Amino acid sequence: MTGERPRVLVTRVIPDEGLDPVRAACEVDLWTDELPPPRDELLRRVRGVDGLLSLLTDRVDDELLDAAGPQLKVVSNFAVGFDNIDVPACTRRGLPAGNTPGVLTETTADLAFTLLAAAARRIPESVDYVRDGQWRTWGPMLLMGVDLHGATLGIVGFGRIGRELARRGRGFGMRILYHDVHPAPPDEERALGAERAELDRLLRESDFVSLHVNLTDETRHLIDADALRAMKPTAVLVNTSRGPVVDTDALTDALGAGEIFAAGLDVTDPEPLPADHPLVGLPNCVVVPHIASASRVTRGKMAAMAAANLLAGLRGERLPTPINPEVYDAPRA
Ligand code: DGY
Repeated sequence: MTGERPRVLVTRVIPDEGLDPVRAACEVDLWTDELPPPRDELLRRVRGVDGLLSLLTDRVDDELLDAAGPQLKVVSNFAVGFDNIDVPACTRRGLPAGNTPGVLTETTADLAFTLLAAAARRIPESVDYVRDGQWRTWGPMLLMGVDLHGATLGIVGFGRIGRELARRGRGFGMRILYHDVHPAPPDEERALGAERAELDRLLRESDFVSLHVNLTDETRHLIDADALRAMKPTAVLVNTSRGPVVDTDALTDALGAGEIFAAGLDVTDPEPLPADHPLVGLPNCVVVPHIASASRVTRGKMAAMAAANLLAGLRGERLPTPINPEVYDAPRA
């Protein structure tokens, strides 16, 4: 301890773009395991720190904030999603919390479109077919998928990432429907050729349904058995938002029964999905391990942004990207 330097806990190794500035300014307790710190370890290590750089695998709630103590000045989440953070619990303590919006938008939309294409054109199945030595001739009936061009892409949640996905869909000649509580500005709707629709119409008319909502009480199991039944039997579901937005059992049943054609999942419930989970064994389900923002450049930008939030909070300055800006209006409890 150097006395003057703030103490921070960083709950996983992140790219140097974030670690370097934090190390330059703080005494850093860095959790270096590949797996997140177990809860009791997290509660122990957070005690007495001035700042916490957390990941989406760390639950930041009353218990953790109490364990940290009243000197805690900032929570900085290395993710745009923050369903792991009890935001009111932070706000009640006058504690600013930050996330990493914007920098991962395109990279996440790229992955959503990649999953869409991979599931539609049965890429993992085709790769396995070659690997397994089954490829003996060109087959007129072999591994037929569904077309992307000319299809209708239904985007549920039309924020930054949803709109970027719309741009990619337009590039493939798709018609765009979107569902969101807030209508997009008319000029943006025009530019993206996007039409707002109620969820049931979107589910009925779309060839691809891609989810881009935050996980809240309202969106948990938004895609349940009824929603899946409303979709076309040729439809593909893509989820890069949060696993619990989809009812996993209902999806497993729907894919197994051919109620929809395929799914591409970056996020699952539970997460991680065990290798022996029925979804993993389904040929029409493409599952990847929550890698939507995982390009080298983007993870570097997320790290830099998480560090900027942490350091601003430690200096008592407004976070560049606060989750709870209301904290600056209310006196500290
Ligand atoms: C996020 O940022 O919320 C993603 O899920 C991980 O990049």
